[in-house]
Amino acid sequence: MRQTLIKGGHVIDPETSVDGVTDILVEDGKIASIGKPKAKRTKTKAEVIDASGRIVTPGLIDMHVHLREPGHEYKETVETGCLAAAHGGFTAICCMPNTDPVNDNQSVTDYILKKARIADTVRVYPVGAISRGLRGESLSDFGELKAAGVVALSDDGNPVMNAQLMRRALEYAKGFNLLVIAHCEDRNLTANGVMNEGVTATQLGLLGVPNAGETVMVARDIALCELVKAPLHIAHVSTDGSVRLIREAKARGLPVTAETAPHYFSLTEEAVLNYDTNAKVHPPLRTAKDREAIRLGLADGTIDVIASDHAPHTSIEKDLEFDQAANGIIGLETSLPLCLQLVEMGVMDLTGLVAKMSMNPARILNIAHIGLKPGNPADLTIIDPEKKFTIDANTFRSKSRNTPFNGCELKGKAVLTMVAGNVVFREA
Ligand code: DOR
Repeated sequence: MRQTLIKGGHVIDPETSVDGVTDILVEDGKIASIGKPKAKRTKTKAEVIDASGRIVTPGLIDMHVHLREPGHEYKETVETGCLAAAHGGFTAICCMPNTDPVNDNQSVTDYILKKARIADTVRVYPVGAISRGLRGESLSDFGELKAAGVVALSDDGNPVMNAQLMRRALEYAKGFNLLVIAHCEDRNLTANGVMNEGVTATQLGLLGVPNAGETVMVARDIALCELVKAPLHIAHVSTDGSVRLIREAKARGLPVTAETAPHYFSLTEEAVLNYDTNAKVHPPLRTAKDREAIRLGLADGTIDVIASDHAPHTSIEKDLEFDQAANGIIGLETSLPLCLQLVEMGVMDLTGLVAKMSMNPARILNIAHIGLKPGNPADLTIIDPEKKFTIDANTFRSKSRNTPFNGCELKGKAVLTMVAGNVVFREA
């Protein structure tokens, strides 16, 4: 029997309400016990991981990641994305279907899952496309995708502009017990905009994207959710109006959940003042008012999940005039330290943060084995909350470097990531 004893860490598990210094015994890849193990249970040859002064959490889950394989392997592959995830403290990731070919059928899902098995690092849960080719014209075969192993459906990167198609998607997905993840954007309003609409865009001479470009679509999708009574998850929330609508929908008991990304609670549109294309993202970075609304939405539970929206692009797509550059920010290796800032700022406590990064995504996605319970696979993250460091994109395991956070000094990061009892990342 293979045993690992994680000793003396501050275990925080919102699922089991454990919050205190204790030990975790792992046997053959599974959690065997939480608490001081009985002396005769631990063999002398058990590997001991000293977690004193560290925080031990259930494995973190990032439910919004772009892996770029198949099709754009020069930006990221399943293997490098998984390594980046492990490096950032994540034990599981969901990968969006905007690959080439699009993940709208069994063969692409099979291919991604095969690559993930070969990478053998973190768990990969593919998200299938709502519409064939992400074209927003006809639905993919949800039954085929579900059988192949997708955990949710999304046209992320593209909105489903046709409300009738979105209605049918919610109805059809409900029958398969699949979650629909909505990329809320009205393309007629966002048009050729490249940053947030407002005075800053005017000063920079750039075309703007109004808040309403997101908010009207959030309103539409909530209305469809109410009509169909099917679960709806709203991706990358960036505006105060979206937070308000989601809060109100939840208060009315609708099955709506939502996520935001670290750049929306950390930055504002001012990050693009020097035309930094690494801060070009869709939806765009907004105003201080929106950022405050996002933080409040996180604090009061309106926003259930923090997901990175890891969107790798290389200098080929980013070292261009601002309006020509690709949208996207990588996040797997910066997400956790940025999230820990929320605790530092008093927006939420650690238990609340861990819930948004593990328990809530697992529940929303219907992933089995939630939390650090005996019998569950030993997926866990060990965090050094005091470790001060400077973000250096050159140390990333990701193939891409497109982050506006390079050079930022932060405190707190993952130092060990364990998946099914195997250490897939350990700080040197
Ligand atoms: O900035 C973005 N990049 N937003 C999206 O919705 C898609 C993503 C990508 O795939 O690059």
